[in-house]
Amino acid sequence: MTVNFRMDAPQPRLLDQTGQGVIHKPLDRPEGPLKVSGRATYAAETHLPGMAHGVLVTASIARGHVEAIDDSAAHELEGYLGCWNGERFLRNPAQGMAGAAPVQPGDRVDFRGQPIAVVVAETFETARDAARRLRILYSEEDAVTDPAEAEFETKEDADAARAVAEALETAAHRIDATYTTASHAAAAMEPHASIAEWNGDQLTLRSALQMLRFNALELADAMGLERGQVRILSPYVGGGFGSKLGLGPEAVAASMAARDLGRPVRVAMTRQQVFETVLRRSETVQRLRLAADSGGRLTALAHDNRQFQLLGEGFAEPVPQASRFLYAGAARSYRQDLGRMHRTPSGSVRAPGEAVGQLAMEAAMDELADAVGLDPVELRLRNIPDAHPGTGTRFSAHGLEACLIDGAARFGWDRRAGPRARQEGDWLIGMGMAGAARPNMLVPSEARVTLAGDRATVETDMTDIGTGSYAILSQIAAEMLGLPAENVTARLGDTDLPGASGSGGSFGAGSSGSSVFLAAKDLRGQIAALMGAAEDGLTLKDGLARAGNVEKRLADLIAEPIAATAKIEKGEMAKETHQSGYGAHFCEVAVHALTGEIRVRRFEGTFAAGRILNEKTARSQCIGGIVWGIGAALTEELVHDARTGQPVTRDLASYHVPAHADVPQIGVTFLQERDDAANPIQAKGVGELGISGAGAAVLNAVANATGVRLRDYPATPDRVIAALAAAGL
Ligand code: MOS
Repeated sequence: MTVNFRMDAPQPRLLDQTGQGVIHKPLDRPEGPLKVSGRATYAAETHLPGMAHGVLVTASIARGHVEAIDDSAAHELEGYLGCWNGERFLRNPAQGMAGAAPVQPGDRVDFRGQPIAVVVAETFETARDAARRLRILYSEEDAVTDPAEAEFETKEDADAARAVAEALETAAHRIDATYTTASHAAAAMEPHASIAEWNGDQLTLRSALQMLRFNALELADAMGLERGQVRILSPYVGGGFGSKLGLGPEAVAASMAARDLGRPVRVAMTRQQVFETVLRRSETVQRLRLAADSGGRLTALAHDNRQFQLLGEGFAEPVPQASRFLYAGAARSYRQDLGRMHRTPSGSVRAPGEAVGQLAMEAAMDELADAVGLDPVELRLRNIPDAHPGTGTRFSAHGLEACLIDGAARFGWDRRAGPRARQEGDWLIGMGMAGAARPNMLVPSEARVTLAGDRATVETDMTDIGTGSYAILSQIAAEMLGLPAENVTARLGDTDLPGASGSGGSFGAGSSGSSVFLAAKDLRGQIAALMGAAEDGLTLKDGLARAGNVEKRLADLIAEPIAATAKIEKGEMAKETHQSGYGAHFCEVAVHALTGEIRVRRFEGTFAAGRILNEKTARSQCIGGIVWGIGAALTEELVHDARTGQPVTRDLASYHVPAHADVPQIGVTFLQERDDAANPIQAKGVGELGISGAGAAVLNAVANATGVRLRDYPATPDRVIAALAAAGL
């Protein structure tokens, strides 16, 4: 029997009443030793008997048809096994939650880097050689590969835009500024890889994926199978950042070849293929218009964006997502111009929306603070709305004010000087800050918890993409069952287990954690029954069950294993409240007046995201988010060749993600918050909250250091030098 639960009303804070004391604790990851000793098997690392090796072949044109693939020269190689393409070839990763996989229509090519075939051989080296020997005949068509030539589809509410224009006319203070952000790659450390293995008409796929329940549907769909014929294993994933939300093309390529060859096939992408073939984040042009009264209170806000996508793709970066609710202002409008281009499709990359939207919005707020003559923290405090300013929906736990105050004190914000007022030799020193917000979601998730004596097992197809799922799901079960965390084993990443939310949109911990909580809660009821006691009179701690004056060891009480399965879905609370995590970022930079080099010297972030389930893994998530924020602000740029649409920064040397030398010690503080509307564990997402606004704090610090506002990101040294020169500095 499955416990079915809908989040229709606030729930008792049971995790504050249980006695084990492991929840929230900064416990180590249980799978950590496996990972650091190389014993955790990632997608490409399983060696199956008889396994053949595939190499993906990608299009070298931006648009047209594959007329013929001649592999006669590959046949000269010993160990060459063949070349596959065809109707079912995936042209790009699916978007996970969409369900259906985007099957390539025949042999069409729509972007350079699109996968068009897979070549398979006895060894990887032979397959790579064979792939280079293919002669591919294309018929080429004109492609749009230069953003300047793209045609745009516009979405705008004309009435809202008019109201904003009117408010701007009469405002005491106005900002009208345009910012650009670069295209980004998810840049997960582990390249996309799959091993396909058939047993009769049953397909097992070992792959690196974020959302297994959906990915199994995509695989069945792409291969023309029933859902029951596919199983996906993804126990360890070396980062996803959105790029593994959906099934990758290498998974289908491996499955097709493995079926025909009657042996397992492995296909791993090269780093360059990951950059060219897997989705990217679109570059954006964002125009921010803010109107405020003499006290700095916003009266109008317009957040317009221009971005790019392949024709026929449904996804668009939700650029103004946080701008819709973070600050007050009666008149609001959001225009989107979506340009169509023949480039790698755009998709979800690390906090889609906020990561680039807040970069611009929080810079505009900084510019407004300057215009009004207000401290940037004070400007934000004055503009915290009482309810969602667009819909009037009430907020659930709302920690922005507390984060701003805590972060400012912790950082020493009161020591901030005016623009270009601090200098150390050739270095200009400045401080900046930004607000952060990221909506919280609850996605259907199911888990089974089994208790055998004083040992428990958590089973769900939830993934751990480096985030800490193994740790937090074990902790939740341990807390609820009164066991040390090491007495709980989490089995994840297998679609034969109950279907979880997966890892995406920062909803994984709250959603899958709640299903584990509910299953463990059911077990508490079963334990109480065995004790002949009421559930609320039961105390579980250190493997002992106590009710009244009766105390029993779980090891004795649970003679036969007991199990419970629970499933959670969102309910009325998601409609009645707007739920977000909030935060505040504070940063100090040094900008070299002659070379334009920017060094981040200090960074402090304070976050309110409901209950923090593991203080160490949550902290790591926020530190990681801030590092990505520094990347978006200063270094990350997926540069495309406008003639071909091909990414030219397609390795981790030229696509520079901040490295240790680029990142200072980062301070992360969590406020003690409970969000009763979010879920029965009162926790909200933290994964993407850390990145939201982080880059803006860096850039606002650069403006404070130099007295010059940069609006084109990343703020690389050439741009800094040009901006300083333009200002006559
Ligand atoms: Mo996230 S970009 O939803 O993996």
